[in-house]
Amino acid sequence: MIPKISNLEEYKSVYNKSIKDPAGFWAEIADCFQWKKKGNQINSGNFNDVNHSWFEDSTLNITENCLDRHLDKRGEKTAIIWESNDPKEEGKHISYRELHAMVSQFANVLINKGVQKGDRVCIYMPMVPELAVAVLACARIGAIHSVVFGGFSARALADRIDDAECRVLLTADSTYRGKKEIRLKDISDDAMNLTDKIDNCITLKRTGNDINMKQGRDSWWHDEIDGVSTFNEALELNGEDPLFILYTSGSTGKPKGILHTTAGYMVYTAYSFKNVFQYEENDIYWCTADIGWITGHSYIVYGPLLCGATTLMFEGVPTFPDAGRFWDVVEKYKVNIFYTAPTAIRALQACDLGFVSSKDLSSLRVLGTVGEPINEEAWHWYNDHIGKKQCPIVDTWWQTETGGILISPLAGITPLKPSYATLPLPGVEPILVNNEGEIIEGNGVEGNLCIKNSWPSQTRTLYGDHERFIQTYFSTYPGYYFTGDGCKRDEDGYYRITGRVDDVINVSGHRIGTAEVENAIAEHEGVCETAVIGYPHDIKGQGIYAYVVCYEEVKNADELRKEILAKVIELIGPIAKPDKIQFVSGLPKTRSGKIMRRILRKLAEGEFDKLGDVSTLLDPSVVEKIKSGVI
Ligand code: PRX
Repeated sequence: MIPKISNLEEYKSVYNKSIKDPAGFWAEIADCFQWKKKGNQINSGNFNDVNHSWFEDSTLNITENCLDRHLDKRGEKTAIIWESNDPKEEGKHISYRELHAMVSQFANVLINKGVQKGDRVCIYMPMVPELAVAVLACARIGAIHSVVFGGFSARALADRIDDAECRVLLTADSTYRGKKEIRLKDISDDAMNLTDKIDNCITLKRTGNDINMKQGRDSWWHDEIDGVSTFNEALELNGEDPLFILYTSGSTGKPKGILHTTAGYMVYTAYSFKNVFQYEENDIYWCTADIGWITGHSYIVYGPLLCGATTLMFEGVPTFPDAGRFWDVVEKYKVNIFYTAPTAIRALQACDLGFVSSKDLSSLRVLGTVGEPINEEAWHWYNDHIGKKQCPIVDTWWQTETGGILISPLAGITPLKPSYATLPLPGVEPILVNNEGEIIEGNGVEGNLCIKNSWPSQTRTLYGDHERFIQTYFSTYPGYYFTGDGCKRDEDGYYRITGRVDDVINVSGHRIGTAEVENAIAEHEGVCETAVIGYPHDIKGQGIYAYVVCYEEVKNADELRKEILAKVIELIGPIAKPDKIQFVSGLPKTRSGKIMRRILRKLAEGEFDKLGDVSTLLDPSVVEKIKSGVI
């Protein structure tokens, strides 16, 4: 059994031990898993050579740990509860035994399609149990899954298929999120017109809506599984064999294929799941994220299943059919642990309290948040109205790259402070570094958040581009992993994440690179130049603000805005749509031609008196024009 820390003193002593002797600490945790062969090498490598690795001479299959291992004791226990977008459609309860059979069967389907160890499989599916089945089936045969969130466009999907060279695409006919239909197969068809990589596209029938099928390439999921054996011997994999790729945005260039490997990811996600949420055997656990993001990978699928938990998957959105949906689901399934994003909390906070007060939320024991800083007001609303001041809130800080939660309270153990992620988990050494790369010691300080040493679930590389991996994370402050976040450490040694210090913006907990949006806008033929920045947004945390310079005089601004939005939707997807587009005659630039984003941020915030010195700009008059709204 994975050990669970039970009080603050124990946390401190476990933490100290984990930092003094990481190999010894993680070796003990690793003993709680099922290995095919247990090696001696716990960790190796360092951040100077960027060659960190974990459990590299051990072999295992992660799905044996998620599924097979539980069959004796928990075979009939519910592994996945599924709740449809439509509250009238009956939900599903899938036991560990059933899930094991579904995964084994689909693993056989993939093998029949010629998928082998190391092959990449792209998954573009809605939040239905088959999505988890697809992910685990890949892991069972050593194929590398690359899940793409349903809010991405055909172009973005094709780019990801191309980058990872996927030959198989798994999708569904369509899905509903709220009232909106997302035609996943149509989008997949468009993507497959943009790339010739896909040989096999398997489509799950979810809504039954009309779709096109191309002979020889496309088939139905139900036809593929028909008559296929539900027995599959899990493949023996090395601890460092790749488990999945997940694309995420950075400050420059195209999205990066974050690569996670098998054993370290397994050990860390399970350990952090159990300890952060203080999971207990019969808890009903619900994380509202989508499996298209890292939160869904680590804390809907892998972490909970590794611990033998019941994990709830929800297809819909918090506001459909009304703003009480989350609380209906909590009441319906008697959810004990509830994990969501600040943006959802803020959106629901803005609605009538009647949506909450009419529901029985007494089953809740632990609340969590993830994805962006939570403002104090939202924290208190969550605490008062959802947790009724009885449920600890774990504000979990982590990233796609970290694989698992790195800084967070342990529920009911770590004393809380609103909007603080508080303390690091065992095995994690956060440091604050100033702009010169020196470590800032002591408390009551602020700096750039880095991590000093490797932890098991750390990204190993960017798929196909190790040099970019080194450049992005290990060159700003050599010898340390740089997170891209700013952070305060208060007098008590508690960490508070202040937000990104690079050109990444966090919109409703979704990470968006300003450069990507700029590239998309610049594809519009009328656009000469553009600069995109984040600005504070009441619900989304940050909104997207685009300053656009056109070649010609803007005659119909509304029309042009629509066209620009359509471009962004086409090239990236609806999630990257700018909230505001301002047409301007020029951008504030230094004499060397660098765009002064700091000034644009202040202008977007309306903080005209805090612009600082603009006299050194190439053309200071552009600032006055932007202020006055003159193009
Ligand atoms: O800026 C931090 C913010 O989200 C970024 C990571 O985004 P992504 O890779 O998409 O993963 C999100 C889910 C793990 C971080 O660099 N972030 C994440 N959690 C928090 C947070 N900011 C403040 N507080 C958090 N709890």
